[in-house]
Amino acid sequence: MSADYTVIIGDSRNMKEITDDSIHLVVTSPPYPMISIWDDFFRTESAESYDEMHHVLDKTWKEVERVLVPGGIVCVNIGDATRTKDGTFHLYPNHSRVIETFEHLGLVTLPYVLWKKPTTKPSYKGKGAFLGSGFLPPNAYVTLDMEFILIFRKGRLRGFEPKDARRYDSKFTKKERDEWFSQVWTVTGTRQTHRDLERRVAAFPEEIPLRLIRMFSIKGDLVLDPFLGSGTTLKVAMSTGRRFVGYEKLASFAHIIKERIGPSAATIEFQRQSSAEISSEVFA
Ligand SMILES: C[S@@+](CC[C@H](N)C(=O)[O-])C[C@H]1O[C@@H](n2cnc3c(N)ncnc32)[C@H](O)[C@@H]1O
Repeated sequence: MSADYTVIIGDSRNMKEITDDSIHLVVTSPPYPMISIWDDFFRTESAESYDEMHHVLDKTWKEVERVLVPGGIVCVNIGDATRTKDGTFHLYPNHSRVIETFEHLGLVTLPYVLWKKPTTKPSYKGKGAFLGSGFLPPNAYVTLDMEFILIFRKGRLRGFEPKDARRYDSKFTKKERDEWFSQVWTVTGTRQTHRDLERRVAAFPEEIPLRLIRMFSIKGDLVLDPFLGSGTTLKVAMSTGRRFVGYEKLASFAHIIKERIGPSAATIEFQRQSSAEISSEVFA
């Protein structure tokens, strides 16, 4: 990439703008299969079943493998889903499906993070809040109040020259290490400026990409988000001295991203793939 910060309005299932072996870190959150807010999105891709929805994402994961440098890291924030189908309440374990895909692509699966979200109400027979009868066994279900941050590496560890200055300049504190490298994170949402849109696009709080970028990249590295949404990963990459490239399929997000970044948005290069490759705007 010629610019330090590039946003491509286009489809990450074909990241032809990025050369092989050039990305050091991927931090992203795709649309989650079987979560109702994303049903319309998958419908525009003619994907109705759990498997078809994952096939849509798999194409991006294949491209992610291609563009990563050897030793590069991928962090995928995804949640499992539950749904009642044909009268039966069922878990759709998105996290294990994504792990299988990356294993097939030949990446190494590393220990993941469980992101504990602010508690939602427990459910009874899959119907939201517990009713009085929810105190009686055995027909209640455990609440999904965790999301996963899956972590993969392409091949062996990245090599560095001894005493590489950029590495030392990027180090974290003992307190940060103790908190960030433990398996359960309790991170609550931060105040958002474009609340409605960010809620619809399920933006993650800045603290999530901030930790991941500081844990798994060094200053000057090139970070990719193939599902950019409102631009949270870009904003954090800029504030932590990393370079960045991101893809967002919906053209209407370009102005949200610019507004979100503020005056430094002038340093972002916006590119657009030919419009034939951009799907209809489900949020329009
Ligand atoms: C869960 S949201 C990402 C939210 C983001 N982490 C944030 O903080 O705003 C997923 C985004 O990916 C976009 N998207 C879905 N499929 C895509 C594709 N194939 N290429 C590029 N963007 C895509 C959607 O339009 C949506 O904005």
